[in-house]
Formats: sequence, C-alpha cells, structure tokens
Amino acid sequence: MVILIVSLISTTSKKESEVIADAKSINNTIIPRPLTYKENDGKFIINKDTTIFIKGKDDEETAEIAKIAEYLKEKLKASTGYDFNISKNEIEKQNYIYLTTVNSESTLGDEGYNITITSDGAKIVANKPEGLFRGIQTLRQLLPPEIDSSKLVNDIEWSIKSSKIYDKPEYSYRGLMIDVARHFFTEEEIKKQIDIAAQYKINRVHLHLTDDQGWRIEIKKYPDLTIIGGSTEVGSGPGGYYTQEQFKSIVQYAVDRYIEIIPEVDMPGHTNAALASYGFLNPDGKRKPLYTGTDVGFSTLMTDSEKTYEFIEDVVKEISQISPSKYFHMGGDEADSTKKEDYNYFVGRVSKIVEKYGKIPIGWDPIDTAPEINSSVILQNWKDSNEDARKKNMNMIISIASKAYLDMKYNENVPTYGLNWAGYIPIETAYDWDPTDFAPRNLVLGIEAPLWTETIDNVENMEFMIYPRLLGYAEIGWTPKSERTWNEYKIRLEKQGAKMEYEGINYYKDNIIWKNQ
Ligand code: ACM
Repeated sequence: MVILIVSLISTTSKKESEVIADAKSINNTIIPRPLTYKENDGKFIINKDTTIFIKGKDDEETAEIAKIAEYLKEKLKASTGYDFNISKNEIEKQNYIYLTTVNSESTLGDEGYNITITSDGAKIVANKPEGLFRGIQTLRQLLPPEIDSSKLVNDIEWSIKSSKIYDKPEYSYRGLMIDVARHFFTEEEIKKQIDIAAQYKINRVHLHLTDDQGWRIEIKKYPDLTIIGGSTEVGSGPGGYYTQEQFKSIVQYAVDRYIEIIPEVDMPGHTNAALASYGFLNPDGKRKPLYTGTDVGFSTLMTDSEKTYEFIEDVVKEISQISPSKYFHMGGDEADSTKKEDYNYFVGRVSKIVEKYGKIPIGWDPIDTAPEINSSVILQNWKDSNEDARKKNMNMIISIASKAYLDMKYNENVPTYGLNWAGYIPIETAYDWDPTDFAPRNLVLGIEAPLWTETIDNVENMEFMIYPRLLGYAEIGWTPKSERTWNEYKIRLEKQGAKMEYEGINYYKDNIIWKNQ
C-alpha cells in the first residue's frame, strides 16, 4: 500500500500530489477556513429539547446575545421543525447550545470565537456578541447541509462532530459592494444578499448609490434627485430608489447581522443623474438629459461652484444622519471630464466635508494622488498604482479589478452577460491571491469584491456572478495567507455546493469544482 502511494505520487505531477496530501488533511468543510480545527471522538445531536443558553458580561450584553440566539433559532427552524427554548438560566449539563462572552480570551478580538463541541452540547465563547455571531455561522456549517433547507427535513440526524475550534479574522474589513445605480435592486433583494453574505463572515456591504444612470437614495432637501434622477437605469428600465426609511431598514437588517452598510455618493464624475435632476449643478443652469447607456467619464460636477459644495454638504449631512457607519464613500474614480488640478481641489474639499459630519472618507484611486488627500482618507484600490497611498501611509481596501471584480465573466463563455475588460475571473483566480500581493500588510484594512451592474438586471444573474466567488473573497479576508491553498479550498468549496442548493442560491456550478454537472 505504502509503495503504491509513493509510486503514485512520484509519477503524478506536483499539483496532483498536493491534492492527495491536502485532501487527506481535510476534516471540515468550513468557509472561511478557521484558524484551528481539531476533531475529537463523539458527536452532539441537536433535538427538539436542545436549549440555547445565553450569558453576557452584563444585562445589556445578555440582551444583545438574546437577539443572536433568536437569529440562530430562526435559521434552524424550517429544516428541523424545532422551536428551541432560549434561556438565561445556568446552563444544564446536557443538550445545550451555549452562547457566552464570559471568561473569553482577550486575544480573540472583536470577531474571534472559540467553539467546543462535545456529546453534551455546543459552547461558543467570544469577547463580544459580534464574535458569537461569527461563531454561529461556523456552527451552522458544522451541521449537515440540509440544515439550510426551507422545508422540514425528516429522517436525518442533526449531529455535529465533537471538535474544538479557535478562530479569528486576518483582516477587519471583508466587503461586498453592490452597484444599485446602473440597475436598481429593491430593499428585499439587497437584504437577501446581506443575509447570504453574513454566513461567510462578510462584515461590510458597500452600496454604490449614485452614478450617471441613477440616484438611488432619497435626499429630502432635493426630491428631484430621486423623482428625476432615480427614474431610470441602464437600458431605460424604470429604475427606483430607497426612501430614507427603506435605507434605514437595510442598515438595521445589516446591523442585526453585524454588517456595516457603507453608502457611496460617487463624485465629481459619475454624476449625470444629479446633473439631470438639478439645473443649478450645470454651467448653463439647465438640467442635463438622463442617461441610460454604459459609457463612463463624461460627467462632472462644477468644481469651482459654491453651489456644488453646498449641495454636497446637504447630501453628506442627510446621509450621515441615517448611516451609522463610520465610513462615507465619496467615489473619486474615472473623473475623466474633470481637469486634474480641479479634481485635486474637489476631492480635498469634499473629504473635509465628509469629516465634518464625523465620517472617515473612502475614495477609489486615483484619489490618493491628490496632494490635498492624506492618511485620514482610505484608498479603495481597484486599478492604479497605490504608490501615493503608500507614501502617505493611507489605509487601503484592496479591490483589484482583475482579481476582485464580480462583474467580470468567469470565462469566455460564462455567463452570456458580465464584462471582461479586466480579464476573466475563474473561481481559482478569484481565490488564489492575497491583498499583500498589492500593498504592505500594515496598510491593508482588508478586501472588497465589487459587483458593478451595467449588464446585470436581475437577482438570479446577480447571484450567479457573486457565488461562489464571494466565498473565496470571504476566505481571503478571514484566513491568513499561510493557512490557505487552492487545492484544499476547492474541496471545501465543493461541499458548500449542497448548502447553496438548499439555500436556493443561483451559483455558478463550474464543473471544475462540481464534477458531473
Ligand atoms: C471603478 O471600477 N470605476 C471603481
């Protein structure tokens, strides 16, 4: 037998031998891969009498953990049919799921957690409720994939192997961006994506709320932004926008999943929808026509007009009042119709307006090249060199288009929509890189995968572009580079297919991963 394996390895390519070794070391299917996972003998079986016990360091924390317990209970309800009891009492000796922040290890940080599964129960300990929420996502993945069925599943043992997990993230920023400006997506459609992303420990969802083709957030002082600017989209569809109440509801839904919603108002370019809504934003005082094509770089706000800055201040103020995020994304990309010196002045001035309303500005490159921009601004690096950001010690979010753009096709033929200007991004290319390939570790806040929607006009197509690549981006953000290899990842990814099926996600079933499709 030994001889057989040795000869097999020696006659196969290095890659194949790595697969053999990696496949052997797999003993869980969790994505993102936890820092340590150790399996023990035995298993814990969940049944109708299982109780979720909760205990925080004080009453306020216990109340927060109670909400997490409710979320877990709801997630497990449809498939199991169980209506778990949630209890603040001392935990019983058996049949418990215990969520607690008491006696945690401080090294776990805000999002880390420890899980101990024995035949008696499952215990998750974290410093913060946020860490318990992340740990619950791991717990869900330890159960059979049928747990995510929306229908009752009979004749199944809801068991989890005895194990010990210690886990915490590499990067604090792990994001998904959705462009709701080129095509509009409703509140419910965005919430669904937030809920799916949360299970892979994504903790930021950036909404690209304005662009040439649409303005998607109600601004009370300027109703025409949405009445006119929100009235269409690429391809001349009906468009749409979020009322402030709807935006707040999205934010709260995300907060309940420990996800921060980051609003973006793109400027000074990508502003035709605003220019079409208000004449005072244009040099001739007249509204521009609405635009439903897909060109970029043709629009600009007037960088030398005080009316422009009054408008921006009003917009930043209203959005900041309904957005609890510490960040405000001010765009700054592809301002091809703005002279460079005007661009520099504009982004410098707008960054100060954003800071006045208590927010940290984020901008796409080339915002870092403006002399007025300094390390109080975060660069979202998508295309250009980040040399200036490095010199200025600016923090960065890495979204390099050729690696992280979810609107790029998987390959020449798949799908029929999507773009390829940054190349094709197969699942392996999406996974097999690290933010430190592009920037020094000490400046990297994390990673974000943007979905631009010029060619994407419905949720099925949106999901096809996002999944399964987002799982890879989630792992790049969570799991240190040294703990990740494609050959091992792809085996775990294959197993995640069943979960995505049960959740009704329209993912790309690439036959490189899912054989016999
Ligand atoms: C971008 O893709 N224009 C940031």
